This record gives sequence, C-alpha cells and structure tokens, in this order.
Amino acid sequence: MAKVKFLKEDVEIDVPVHANLKEFCLANNLKLYLFPENIVNCRGKGFCQLCRIKVDKPENLSAPTEREEASVAYEGDQYRLACQCTIAKDGDLQIITRPRRIWGWRDHPAHNQLITEEQKVFGF
Ligand code: FES
Repeated sequence: MAKVKFLKEDVEIDVPVHANLKEFCLANNLKLYLFPENIVNCRGKGFCQLCRIKVDKPENLSAPTEREEASVAYEGDQYRLACQCTIAKDGDLQIITRPRRIWGWRDHPAHNQLITEEQKVFGF
C-alpha cells in the first residue's frame, strides 16, 4: 500500500500497489475531471490529457507510457496521465489533480517572484 495524499481534495488514502490512478480516483469520488470533462474524455486511452496530474515522487509510479511521453513529458517527469500510470511501490506520494499548465505569462520571472513557495512546489 502506498499512502497517497491528494492535495486539492485534502484527502489521504492508502492505495494498493499496481492500482491504476484514474480508476482509483473515480472509485473514491476524487475529482479527476470537472464538467464537461467528466463526460467528454478518452476513457483512459491516453489521448485527451484531461486526467493530467502532478506528483511529487514520480519514481513511485510506473514508467511513463508512450502516450505520456508524447503528451505531458515536455512539462517534466512530475506530470503524468492518471489513466496511464499505476502505483509502482510503497511509500508516500502527493498528487495534485488538474494542475495548471506551464505556459504563458505564468512562466515569466516576475510572476514567479509573486507566488509563494508552496505554490511553486505544488503548481497551484
Ligand atoms: S482519460 Fe484521456 S488521457 Fe487519461
């Protein structure tokens, strides 16, 4: 079991090793998608990127799939698709569902000076 903290939801849950994160989130009523994304998504095929998450320890998850390499890998190894990854080993893990995209004016150095350390770490 991995102890996973979902930061936006402020929930800590034990997740079994090899559990798919998308299926686990949906089974536990964690908001991986907002409306209308909860209706219009690729159903775990790795195409829509709507299940994008940010994790603090990517080494505790399964290796990135080809779909992840093609879609979210440019943002860094902390960004994953919940439908494509499973818990690989025991340990603590923090997850942010629906993290903000890294692009545009928020990448400007002036913006980075205005946000708090916690926002920088977790990408709110
Ligand atoms: S559900 Fe579409 S990429 Fe994960």
